[in-house]
Amino acid sequence: MDIRQKFLNYFQRKGHTLNASSPLVPIDDDGTLMFVNAGMVPFKSIFTGTAPIPTPPRATSSQTCLRAGGKHNDLDNVGYTARHHTLFEMLGNFSFGNYFKEDAIAYAWEFITSEKYLNLPVDKIWVTVHENDDEAYELWQKHISKDRIMKFDDKENFWAMGDTGACGPCSEIFYDQGAEHFSGKEDYLGGEGDRFLEIWNLVFMQYERDAEGNLNPLPKPSIDTGMGLERVVAIKEGELNNYHSSLFMPFIDKLGELVGMPYNYSTDNSASYRVIADHLRSCSFLLAQGVNFDKDGRGYVLRRIMRRAIRHGYLLGLREPFMYKLVDVLVETMGEQYSYLPQRAESIKTSMKLEEERFFRTIEDGIKLFNAELENTTDIFDGEIAFKLNDTYGFPLDLTEDMLREENIKLDIDAFNKKLETQKTQSKANWKGTGDAAQSGDFKSIKESFGVNEFVGYEETTAEATVLALLDEDFKQVDSVDGKGWVYLSKTPFYAESGGQTGDSGTITVGRGAPSPTIKALDTKKFLDMNLSEVEGSLEIGDKITAIVDPKRAEIEKHHSATHLLHAGLRELLGEHIAQAGSLNDDKRLRFDFSHPQAMTTKEIAKVEAWVNDKINRNISRKTEVMSVDDARDSGAMALFGEKYGDEVRVVSFADNSVELCGGTHVNSASEIGLFMITKESGVSAGVRRIEAICGNSAITEVNTLRNSLVEIKTELKNQNPIAGITKLKEQIKTLKVELQTALNSTKKELTASEINGVTVIVDEVETGDIKELIDEAKNKYPSVAIMLFQKKGKKVMI
Ligand code: ALA
Repeated sequence: MDIRQKFLNYFQRKGHTLNASSPLVPIDDDGTLMFVNAGMVPFKSIFTGTAPIPTPPRATSSQTCLRAGGKHNDLDNVGYTARHHTLFEMLGNFSFGNYFKEDAIAYAWEFITSEKYLNLPVDKIWVTVHENDDEAYELWQKHISKDRIMKFDDKENFWAMGDTGACGPCSEIFYDQGAEHFSGKEDYLGGEGDRFLEIWNLVFMQYERDAEGNLNPLPKPSIDTGMGLERVVAIKEGELNNYHSSLFMPFIDKLGELVGMPYNYSTDNSASYRVIADHLRSCSFLLAQGVNFDKDGRGYVLRRIMRRAIRHGYLLGLREPFMYKLVDVLVETMGEQYSYLPQRAESIKTSMKLEEERFFRTIEDGIKLFNAELENTTDIFDGEIAFKLNDTYGFPLDLTEDMLREENIKLDIDAFNKKLETQKTQSKANWKGTGDAAQSGDFKSIKESFGVNEFVGYEETTAEATVLALLDEDFKQVDSVDGKGWVYLSKTPFYAESGGQTGDSGTITVGRGAPSPTIKALDTKKFLDMNLSEVEGSLEIGDKITAIVDPKRAEIEKHHSATHLLHAGLRELLGEHIAQAGSLNDDKRLRFDFSHPQAMTTKEIAKVEAWVNDKINRNISRKTEVMSVDDARDSGAMALFGEKYGDEVRVVSFADNSVELCGGTHVNSASEIGLFMITKESGVSAGVRRIEAICGNSAITEVNTLRNSLVEIKTELKNQNPIAGITKLKEQIKTLKVELQTALNSTKKELTASEINGVTVIVDEVETGDIKELIDEAKNKYPSVAIMLFQKKGKKVMI
């Protein structure tokens, strides 16, 4: 049985719930983390107490993690050490205020040493503990002799996910690969060398670090552990380098075929093979999960990893796209565990190939510029050239830095930064999400007091409820609102913006039935899973109210349901590679972004539009079922990465035509959508297209506008057929132009020329006609001529 499965089985037997690997983009994206960088990230709000502790209070997972940027960044090491990766799988067991150090240590020891599990030789194991953690030091001595336990300070043995959040002292388990293999300067316990390989980190989660850097004790001390699957697999396969295990060699072998030179560890270029094998995995996972190449944010991290790999391909002599040819190897090696990889393989290949083509267009010139500058450099590389490499040739900064590291040359980073400052400010502005408000707002205490309110808007568009809490415009709790603020209702019919569907607006009246001043609900959003509505009017805590959803919700639903049909139609007609990359549904229009390598043809657009209208006309009823995520995926429902799905999900289907996981609200039957019209198809970024469309009332309005214009055109054309009328008009214009030219020619003035010292000189007034033409004619006529013409234009004179 493979190691991943053994680990998960072991901890399930010890009462841990199995959790599937979460997407790499954190689901509750509050802006604090670029990517999931540890197995504990999906549980972070359980550790800090903002999410309830599950039953049982133990979990286990094999989580894909990405460490390329942010606090834990391994990108620079990849390919050059035997053990670092951008994407890796972290095996973990978690206790939420349940067991603590003693059991965590005992479980880890049993798993690594027992014959039934990893069966690693005890005499190769070493452990480290935090220097102040006497308890862990004592507990380990039950299993391993004292001289094998080392104490280290915060730098080595204190673990934190990011600058803020859950953290604590940790204890690491090392495997000694032997002095006979590794005897470098750094090959001691705690050194940077590969001899002592850290295989498992047990974190004793005890604190939450706040934005000011203070360590606040967690409500319940917990356990978070992380074991690197790739490292353990290599050890068990008797390999001293992760890249030589069965997890990576298939990529390296295939690459050897493409390069025409098999991998050889002892050659100078062997690191390039390893870098490419690693980066292929991370880039593919990101693309499969809906991250696309971009100029900033996560998409830029993807681009940086990808371009680093392409340059290593270039070093190996490759001059055309090759990465996409390795995707099939990924499907073979990891497709069983991650079923979305085979499903999205074609789309991954298409996007990769496009990015490769883009970079291959400029890489050669960039490398020439780099080399030329390098020749002029003795120790510091010009930052402005690095900027030019970035700006003109698409070399991300860290790629240039990587290239300089190989040459032992430093970069004048200040000069680079100066040039980049403007761009950086811009991308920072883009990066700030709505997370800012949620982070500083009083949501946590509201959730602690009242829990998550119920959304009753699937069935009802009115609800009677109580005002549980109120917030001002800065999201601070207040007792009353007079003007603008936010309301937290005991239950709410207002849909909170999510999954592309805009938040509901509507009205709120105070008192049941009795007339009262109406309060406007302007918008509804989710904060920490709670539905809050932005309001304008006067409300107090405890008010009994009636909430009424604005009737435009019906129009929003039409657009949302039409989006589902459009998605299905695109997959049916353009292919399975179509994956949703974003959507927006409001009462006036819909917007759907999807992965597709090229612009759609007019014919394709018309076909998709007709496909959707056909489904609408068949009046298929909508069915919504609530089921477990696993059942939903088994039923083939399309799910989105980065969307938050609870344990129970809603599956929305229109017969077999469209089946999607969706928390939004929808029409009851397809015919309610009315007419569906695509209004625009355009490109958003590389490999991502956008369709804008309208339906329901918007489509009727559009048809009426078009019809009215046509009527006006017909009236202007005296009721002729408009096409015939316009053709006739065009003919008339053509004839008139010819007539006009003839008339002008006949009245064209003969310019008076005289000769001065052998040069023809023309000074004359021209009443009508084209001056430029007259000059050209004169120039043709006389070999050497000076011309000055005057023409009256209204009150001015043109010379
Ligand atoms: N969260 C811990 C780590 O990533 C286990 O090392």
